[in-house]
Amino acid sequence: MGLPFASVPAWASVSAVVLFTALSAFSGPADAQRRERPGKEVVDAACGACHLSGKDGAPRIGDAAAWAARTGQGLTMLTEHALKGIRKMPAHGGSTGVSDLELQRAIVYMVNNSGGRWIEPAAMRTSTLTSETIVQQQCAACHQGGKDGAPRIGDRAAWTPRFAKGLDRLVASAVHGHGAMPARGGMPDLEREDIRDATLYMFNYGLPAVAAPQPPAAPDPHHKLVSGLDVYFGMMRADALRSQGAKAGGTKLSIPAGRGYYHLNISVEDNKTRAPVTDAQVTMQVSDGMSVETKTLERLAANNAVSYGNFFRFTSGNSYNITTEIKRAGMPSPVTAKFEFKAP
Ligand code: HEC
Ligand code: HEC
Repeated sequence: MGLPFASVPAWASVSAVVLFTALSAFSGPADAQRRERPGKEVVDAACGACHLSGKDGAPRIGDAAAWAARTGQGLTMLTEHALKGIRKMPAHGGSTGVSDLELQRAIVYMVNNSGGRWIEPAAMRTSTLTSETIVQQQCAACHQGGKDGAPRIGDRAAWTPRFAKGLDRLVASAVHGHGAMPARGGMPDLEREDIRDATLYMFNYGLPAVAAPQPPAAPDPHHKLVSGLDVYFGMMRADALRSQGAKAGGTKLSIPAGRGYYHLNISVEDNKTRAPVTDAQVTMQVSDGMSVETKTLERLAANNAVSYGNFFRFTSGNSYNITTEIKRAGMPSPVTAKFEFKAP
């Protein structure tokens, strides 16, 4: 009887090891699938220490101005800064137990309690969609064929008057939706920046399949056809750009301080091929009859589109003549396009 008795503890101990191993094998996935906390919980636990008081210059929860100065970067960029840390903001807010998604939710929570209106993400935004993808997957459903009066992709004549109210307001209108245009174009997780870029994309380009109809409309004061080039003129108030945290091709525009500044820009397209002209040298002369200012326009690239722009200062009420000179290698002589601008 000695043998079976002696073997029981040995068997029992093996089984305990098996059980222990089985348990620890389970604890891995169980950990990974733990509940992702909503933003408020994360903020209370990990961010409030600095962001409630504004310690070390942390944007304070409830301070709309402090957050507005940062939200222009978009959620993706803010998350990156919070993940890696920025100046006195420690990486992950100093709490390694905070997952990336929780961090993102915490940021959205703080923004929304500081005058913002962001949507707390259900899942981590890992890949940022390109404007082209957003437009093709979503906006094209209506904007390609002009459904319910949607301005068509690439139809500048339809878009230009809408841009006249300012990019900021145009984007706000797309974010909130109006008429048959659904809020955020029907994609609730799109960021404001995505919508802005998708809108610019629709204005700037047009899907290859869409031949932009050429309406025999009244002449568009923002468009000139000269020597086979379509030249489009645009302007934006400097302070509107500032509130957007404007960037061109990843670099922040240095926006001059002071009143009356506008960013004037032109984009150029080959009238036959519709190919954007990306290799031009452009100068712009602005004159109100008394004084003349001439500047070289910087080449601005964003979303594969190129425009040329610079800041000019205007005195309100005055009318200005704007003369752009476009030079290209291989072009026998510069092309000149003239526009008018009345400073409001
Ligand atoms: C030890 C203090 C501290 C804690 C804790 C902390 N922050 Fe911060 N945070 C800061 C400071 C300071 C700044 C301002 C950094 C700067 O721009 O100079 C900041 C800035 C930020 C910004 C703006 C970054 C930008 O690019 O403008 C975000 C977003 C942010 N924090 C998120 C969080 C989140 C989310 C948590 C909690 C998980 C957190 N912070 C916890 C100190 C803290
Ligand atoms: C279900 C159809 C539909 C979808 C999808 C849609 N739009 Fe629109 N959109 C419209 C219509 C219709 C208008 C014109 C509304 C009006 O002015 O009455 C419009 C107008 C706009 C305007 C101009 C707003 C203004 O104030 O002049 C912008 C900008 C815009 N859409 C952006 C987008 C973007 C970006 C997307 C994709 C993310 C998108 N739309 C998806 C139907 C749609």
